[in-house]
Amino acid sequence: MNLIQRIHGQGQGPAHTHDESETHSHGVPFWVRHYDMIVNLITFGRTKTIHRETLSLAGLRPGDTVLDIGCGTGALLLEAENTVGPEGTAIGLDVEPAMVEQARRRAGKSHSRATFGVASIDQIPYPDDTFDVVFSTLMYHHLTESQKGAAFSELSRVLRPNGRLIMVDINPARRNILTSLPGHSQVEREDYVRSEVTERMQIAGFTVVEEGAHPSKQLSYAIGQKV
Ligand SMILES: C[S@@+](CC[C@H](N)C(=O)[O-])C[C@H]1O[C@@H](n2cnc3c(N)ncnc32)[C@H](O)[C@@H]1O
Repeated sequence: MNLIQRIHGQGQGPAHTHDESETHSHGVPFWVRHYDMIVNLITFGRTKTIHRETLSLAGLRPGDTVLDIGCGTGALLLEAENTVGPEGTAIGLDVEPAMVEQARRRAGKSHSRATFGVASIDQIPYPDDTFDVVFSTLMYHHLTESQKGAAFSELSRVLRPNGRLIMVDINPARRNILTSLPGHSQVEREDYVRSEVTERMQIAGFTVVEEGAHPSKQLSYAIGQKV
């Protein structure tokens, strides 16, 4: 399995398993330790800009409670934490324990109060009406058909009334570098964020308040509001 397939969880079986031969002494695999650098290379050094563009779509306010589901190494959430401030709450969840471990390390280094946990989008371990804003970036294309249906019900359940769901994923219609990477044959089709994702949002009871090309043109976004 190549590096890109590992990053995108292709054919790994249970998401929390990993090859011990690729693990360094602290238990975090090589590809997770270098995930941020790899993504930054793939995006031509624009990772921070993409995160800021995504955050500006969300209209976060100081004091908000925010969840990043499929948070990876936590980079977006730590930026979000700067906006929600000390009165707010920033929580990251990811199904891959090594990602969560790496996110915790990163948070520790920056003296962040954000918390991270291992969980899947179709079973979010928080009560109803907990979050003002939920982000899901570059993770939708990982999900199986049955997870997709359950995911939107869960996201609706944990959002507060009028809470917003911001989903960002690859826009394959633009035939960009991301869709030509190995392990991405499953996303080489139409702009699924603006079609499939918005449809699923509506089925789950969200009002789609905005959708379109992300300022980073390789991506699309959709924003749903819980009624
Ligand atoms: C391509 S990475 C994106 C990470 C981060 N959101 C970003 O934008 O850089 C996809 C992440 O989604 C996580 N993931 C995949 N399936 C998931 C699921 N069912 N529930 C939660 N996280 C999942 C993976 O472990 C991985 O960290």
